[in-house]
Amino acid sequence: MKLGAIIAAAGSGLRMKNSIRKQYLLLEEVPVLIRSVRLFINHPAMVKLVVVVPPADLEEAGTLFQQYCSFERLELVGGGETRQESVHKGLQAMPRDCDIICVHDAARPLATGALLKRLVTAALEYGAVVPVIGLSDTVKIVGEDEMIVGTPPRGNLRLVQTPQVFRADLIRQAYAEAAISGAQATDDASLVELLGKPVKTVEGEAANLKITSPSDLVLASWYLKGASI
Ligand code: CTP
Ligand code: MG
Repeated sequence: MKLGAIIAAAGSGLRMKNSIRKQYLLLEEVPVLIRSVRLFINHPAMVKLVVVVPPADLEEAGTLFQQYCSFERLELVGGGETRQESVHKGLQAMPRDCDIICVHDAARPLATGALLKRLVTAALEYGAVVPVIGLSDTVKIVGEDEMIVGTPPRGNLRLVQTPQVFRADLIRQAYAEAAISGAQATDDASLVELLGKPVKTVEGEAANLKITSPSDLVLASWYLKGASI
């Protein structure tokens, strides 16, 4: 089995409100992006790692990887306007002989090897798999006027994380169809769902948060230090 991974790191990190893009910020002395990439470098079946960065950052990102981790099968690719475009560009750089492709947000530096292992095992069986966690809050659907229009039953709702892991032919087909139909999605599984193919969920990790706003960096740091209150 040959494994490939695409790390989506071409966002602007606007909600982080920092002059440095969030993927380059230091989290316990190591850049967020490097932590996210290391998860895959440590997997024994990994044959190709494609890191998608803002086109203007290609040179600087190259220097960063030289400094923090040398993995000869790592390729840097310039991203697009949306996450979907960035992942699509990453997919085009993926060699044809990968059996399984993982797609991960650079903004999730705390996913563990144990989670990745569970996902790859499930992907071999089901073709498409995403990590999820249950909700502790009730969710409301609101209209444009901010008035509630509905309350979906919480028991059926899940928050979706990355890595999302797919059989290579399936994720390629999903992105190819989306390019034709113009479908837009905020995660990769959505495009597989649009093909009418099943997507399996497995239990994600509470600590696998997406660094989005400044407080997330504090929380991630707390998780990393294994702090207790
Ligand atoms: N991403 C990407 N290309 C884009 C937009 C996002 O590769 N054009 C990546 C981000 O770098 C991030 C992941 O997709 O790792 C999830 O996106 P998000 O958390 O929304 O990050 P940003 O878009 O960078 O942040 P913001 O929405 O706050 O600007
Ligand atoms: Mg975004």
